[in-house]
Amino acid sequence: MKATAKAHTNIALIKYWGKRDESIILPTNNSLSLTLDGFYTQTTVEFKAELKEDVFYLDNTIVTDGQYNRVTKFLDLIRGYAQKHTLFAEIHSINKVPTAAGFASSASGFAALAAAATKALDLKLSEHELSRITRQGSGSACRSIYGGFAEWEKGIKEDGSDSYAIPIAPKDHWDIRVAAVVLSSKMKKVSSREGMKRTVDTSPFFKSWVDSIPSDLDAIKQGINDRNFEMVGKIAEANCLKMHATTLGATPPFTYWHDTTVSVMQTVKQLREHGVPAYFTIDAGPNVKVLYLPENEEKIKKALREIPGVTDVILSRAGQGVTYL
Ligand code: PMV
Repeated sequence: MKATAKAHTNIALIKYWGKRDESIILPTNNSLSLTLDGFYTQTTVEFKAELKEDVFYLDNTIVTDGQYNRVTKFLDLIRGYAQKHTLFAEIHSINKVPTAAGFASSASGFAALAAAATKALDLKLSEHELSRITRQGSGSACRSIYGGFAEWEKGIKEDGSDSYAIPIAPKDHWDIRVAAVVLSSKMKKVSSREGMKRTVDTSPFFKSWVDSIPSDLDAIKQGINDRNFEMVGKIAEANCLKMHATTLGATPPFTYWHDTTVSVMQTVKQLREHGVPAYFTIDAGPNVKVLYLPENEEKIKKALREIPGVTDVILSRAGQGVTYL
C-alpha cells in the first residue's frame, strides 16, 4: 500500500497548445518533448485504512489549498480504477524543480504521483496506461513517463483512451543539452490553462497552428533519428514562435515575453551567427530554454550569463523516465 516514484520534468520541442476537451485533458495537437535530468519530483504515496481524507505534504509542508484539491481529484481517478473509492492516502512530495527557472513542476509532479499511487495500489499498468492516467493530472506530465524524447499522441477518441505519450528515443540516443535561462523580473502570469483556452476560443491564428503540426513532427522526428542538431533546433525554435504568435492574435491579446526574453532570443541568434549552434524554445512564461551540444557548453553559458536581466543559467542533460525507489 506504499510506493515511492521519481519523475523528471520535460521541455516541449513541439508544443502542446490547445485542448479539445478540458475536463479529461485532450489536446488539439500532438506534442514532442525531451525529458531533463536536472529537475525532478520524488513522491511517496501510502494508502491507509484509518485515513478519512488524503493528506498532502510538499517539501515537508502540509498543503491545503488549490494544489491539494488537484491532487485529491487526481487520486479519486486512480481510486476509481482500483475500485477503492474510500481508501485515502498520505502523500509526501519533494520538488527539485527550481520554480524560478520557469519549469512547470506539474509535469514531474503528476508523473511521480501517478506512478507512486498506482504502484501503491498494485495496479499493474503498462507505460501507455500510466501515461494516459497521468495526462488527466496535467497534460504535459504524460510525456514525463518516458526518458529522452517522447511524443504525446492526441488520439481521436472522445473518451481519451488513445491519448497518451509514446517513447521516440531514449536519453542515451543523443547527448543534447538544455540551458534554462532565469530572468530577474517577473510578470503577472496567464496560466497555461487560461492561455490555451483564450487562444483556442479567439485567436484566428489557432487553426494554422494546428495545421502546421504534422509536418513539424515528421521533420523533427527525422532530425532526432539522424541526430541532426540544426534540423531539430530550427524546427523547435520555429514551432515555439508559432505557438507564441497565436497568443498575439487572441482577444484580449497577450504575450508571455518580457524584454529580457527577447534579449535572450537575440543572443541565441548572434551565437549562431558566430558559428555556435544554439536554438531557443519558450513555454507559457518569460523564461527561455536554449538547446545546445556539449562541446559548446562553456560558450553558451558565458554568453547567456552576460545578458542584463539574466540572473541564472541552469544546465541540464537528457533525463530518464519514471523510476521506482
Ligand atoms: O500541461 P500544462 O498545462 O502545464 O501545459 C503545458 C503547455 C506548454 O508548456 C506551454 C507546452 C508543452 O507542451 O509543455
